[in-house]
Amino acid sequence: MNENIKIQICKQLKDNYSYIIYSKKFKKAIVIDPSEADPILKFLELNNLDLIAVLITHHHSDHTSGIDKIYKNKKVNVYSPNLKIEFSNIKINNNEIIDLFFIKFKAIFLPGHTNDHVVFYCEEKNILFSGDTIFSLGCGRIFEGSIKDMYNSLQKINKMPDKTMIFCGHEYTLNNLNFLKSTFPNLKELDDYSLKINTKFKDTETTMPFLLGDEKIYNPYLCNKRSIYEKFKSINNYNNLSFFKYIRDLKDLY
Ligand SMILES: [Fe+2]
Repeated sequence: MNENIKIQICKQLKDNYSYIIYSKKFKKAIVIDPSEADPILKFLELNNLDLIAVLITHHHSDHTSGIDKIYKNKKVNVYSPNLKIEFSNIKINNNEIIDLFFIKFKAIFLPGHTNDHVVFYCEEKNILFSGDTIFSLGCGRIFEGSIKDMYNSLQKINKMPDKTMIFCGHEYTLNNLNFLKSTFPNLKELDDYSLKINTKFKDTETTMPFLLGDEKIYNPYLCNKRSIYEKFKSINNYNNLSFFKYIRDLKDLY
């Protein structure tokens, strides 16, 4: 990360994350998916930061409930994929570059969790704000799109560079890990990765951000050919899409 650009990880509600991306040099900030306004406004004030934009990944209320108070305080541009989201005032288009003074994001539409889901990717800095598309060792539930929609969306993330650091919308990592360990008890690789994740969580109280290169190996929903699930797929005659459906359906019941 550029020394001038910082990311504040904000724990919100029960297990949500909002993010404040800010430049110390320019004293400007952007907020992604605010659920609770007060701690965000406090952080901005304490650090003397001028909020220049709010970015929204999708319409679910746990990603948008903080917009109201922030907008009433700051009257900022609120970028969203869906103008039905209250207080959003700039509609994002697919593959649009959003230039925010000290950082540029490509907005990529990735439907599946909802039809209006967008992620924010900064290729220059190798960071992705993924909302509820990919989680560490998991993916969002399919509420509005089809299995194929979500699979195709995750394949777009699969094509990003291994060094991409992902900041997602929820702290679900340990639950996802437990699910995978109970589903694939013979995959010893999960135990090694488990040690890494648990150490990180113990040290920092978060598993954010996480590395896409690791997800390509341990996250079954990406169906990457380097993953530890390839043998299971071939023994059980799954192709990528049928394996994705199998594992997503199992997780829904977990
Ligand atoms: Fe959601």
